[in-house]
Amino acid sequence: MAAYLISDLHLGHENIPKYRDFPSLEAHDEFVLSRIADTVRSTKRDTMYVLGDVAFTREGWERFDALPGNKIVILGNHDTERTSRFNVAFIESLKTVNSVHSLLNINGMILSHAPLHPAHLRGKINVHGHLHGDIVKDRRYFNMSMEQLDYRPWSLEQLRDEMVKRRSLSYVYSRLGAEAVWRSLWETAGKNGLSYNEYRAVQNSLEMMQAQQR
Ligand SMILES: [Fe+2]
Repeated sequence: MAAYLISDLHLGHENIPKYRDFPSLEAHDEFVLSRIADTVRSTKRDTMYVLGDVAFTREGWERFDALPGNKIVILGNHDTERTSRFNVAFIESLKTVNSVHSLLNINGMILSHAPLHPAHLRGKINVHGHLHGDIVKDRRYFNMSMEQLDYRPWSLEQLRDEMVKRRSLSYVYSRLGAEAVWRSLWETAGKNGLSYNEYRAVQNSLEMMQAQQR
């Protein structure tokens, strides 16, 4: 069982080879699809959160549907009837699409297509796409656009490691209620060598959570 995140596939998008420096649209789409298929292997066991701008053509959506993995889709600005000619009902009807959302809350994170305004975060992390080559210079924002990830979906564990590296943990810990999730985060944090002050900050928030549960 594994969960992955990816954003902005742009399958069948005529202008994307120019932006991403591919010789043709076919070469781009082949590359994107093979990178995903190399990482996400099983529709039964693996889930892929796709944060929008999936495909611009029916063929693109069908090729996306044929990829392994159970897909949870968050709609992007291009996933509209006007731009891609396909509506939510069409996307929901695809065989491997589990559900379609505009925004999703998961384990102290908000998943969205475009980055959210900081006032909306209230102690959470924002995992987003849309910016392609750009990033928000703020440790609460994680851009999952394909070009940021060398075109490979990230596992939740990779995202967690990045949170540790970028010291985004205090934002997440204050919101995560489950000790089990905390423990798995802490195991990774230990491996990455948290400083004593960070360890104390984590410990304090755990104690606070336990006090609240009593
Ligand atoms: Fe996009």
